[in-house]
Amino acid sequence: MRAPLRALTLAAVAGGAALGYASIVERNWFALRRADVPVLPAGSEPLRLLHLSDMHLTPGRHRLLSWLRSLDALAPDLVVNTGDSIAHAESVLPLLDALGPLLDRPGVFVYGSNDLYSPIPANPLRYLWGTSAKRNHRHVPDLPWAELGAGMAAAGWMDANNARGRIKAGGLDIEVGGVHDSHVSRAHYEDIAGPADPTADLRLGVMHSPEPAIMDQFAADGYDLLLAGHTHGGQVCVPGYGSLVTNCGLEPERASGLHRHPVEGGPARPWLHVSAGLGTSPWVPFRFACRPEATLLTLVPRIG
Ligand SMILES: [Fe+2]
Repeated sequence: MRAPLRALTLAAVAGGAALGYASIVERNWFALRRADVPVLPAGSEPLRLLHLSDMHLTPGRHRLLSWLRSLDALAPDLVVNTGDSIAHAESVLPLLDALGPLLDRPGVFVYGSNDLYSPIPANPLRYLWGTSAKRNHRHVPDLPWAELGAGMAAAGWMDANNARGRIKAGGLDIEVGGVHDSHVSRAHYEDIAGPADPTADLRLGVMHSPEPAIMDQFAADGYDLLLAGHTHGGQVCVPGYGSLVTNCGLEPERASGLHRHPVEGGPARPWLHVSAGLGTSPWVPFRFACRPEATLLTLVPRIG
């Protein structure tokens, strides 16, 4: 075999192996991440917050459902779901069933665009030069988002889509403000705008897509902790380097994990946790160097 042909063959074999690993192995290799967040008043007991996001559930994802079912053993005090939970009309009941006893715990949810609109084929390379914002030209949702929300709300979880409210969790009095997904023009921060209550033990901001302009408003209103998903952590990352894209206005350095927002500033800036999420679009069914994840955040008293 000539050298160029041999090189091409080797490249094709390596590419096929990488794709097989990313779609069969890593996509089902769920990780539980843990992080401490110093965000509570002095003297508070730690609060265990389970952050779920971007499950994109389709029929037949038994490993994902089984892993979800196992998470109640973590005994979280609060569960937050930052959206893109489903990707198929038949996914609501299996998802609610897998959440199971987690639904009996205090919870908060917002929707992502994929809870409303069924997935459509897309060129994954487009994420290198743009985001999904305004790319969805459909206006009539075709997925049972209301049924999904009704199921979580019926269990007692707070619907935080363009809403503010108060919840009790782990003995703490928590003010929650949330917005719907900005990528389908449904985020209305003006509905929740205004200073967060300084007498609450914690001020929690929840959204699907971590758009800096929206997070600036949460920060200005005095929220302590912001939770978001949407980025999939970059989904296809470079080993040893990290993510290349976030599919939103956030820079790749904050594609997942615990950071502050804004990046620079004083100690009053909110903490930001971006979940890399548990799934993918069924049309882009692979993850590389970016395992699907849920996160157990342990909220602890502020330092100093
Ligand atoms: Fe997503």
